[in-house]
Amino acid sequence: MIIALSGTPGTGKTSTAKLLNDCNIINMNKLIKEHKLYTGVDHKRDTLIADQKEVQKQINHEMQNINHGDLNNTTVIEGHLSHKLENIDAVIVLRCHPSVLKKRLDKRGYSKPKIQENIDAEAIDIILSEAAQVCEQVYEINTTGNTVQQTQEQVEEIIKNIQENKQMPVKYFPGTINWIEEVNSSR
Ligand SMILES: Nc1ncnc2c1ncn2[C@@H]1O[C@H](COP(=O)(O)OP(=O)(O)OP(=O)(O)O)[C@@H](O)[C@H]1O
Ligand SMILES: [Mg+2]
Repeated sequence: MIIALSGTPGTGKTSTAKLLNDCNIINMNKLIKEHKLYTGVDHKRDTLIADQKEVQKQINHEMQNINHGDLNNTTVIEGHLSHKLENIDAVIVLRCHPSVLKKRLDKRGYSKPKIQENIDAEAIDIILSEAAQVCEQVYEINTTGNTVQQTQEQVEEIIKNIQENKQMPVKYFPGTINWIEEVNSSR
């Protein structure tokens, strides 16, 4: 089974994935850098432009060694583009209140426009809506006010429920988080 762990930059994908037990982890950012899977540099955003086709090829290659036909053999692919990959069984989107996300991105030393772009994207649910367009099973976790360990436990709870075909707690269904009022107030 393949799970995409997605979310706006700074919502905690890498920190959370590092703590996950009993699954294979693929860090997309690392993969893109290591294998030079980009078409260029977006200087305005100070970021690499991923070559989605080449990224997919590399992921397919990595997945060859993993028997994901076995439901309990779970691979978590983490990255803010992971929900766009093929053959994803479910997407977990990490969320963070825009004002808290701003603090997290400030700490990274991101430029003001880059921070604003990301908190706007978070406020209007961009990744969640993209994920919902391509995958039937989409869940979200509000990381605001929680520890990384709590987020890890929630991701593991979602994965366990999928593996065991159990009913998913309502709090993970898309729609409970709504930060639209933050769009203008965060400026
Ligand atoms: N509940 C939480 N869950 C996850 N991360 C949290 C939480 N609370 C605070 N954080 C912090 O937020 C930051 C998230 O950074 P991280 O690199 O994990 O984000 P990311 O989603 O991987 O970003 P990117 O898309 O840029 O790779 C870390 O410093 C982490 O400690
Ligand atoms: Mg990361």
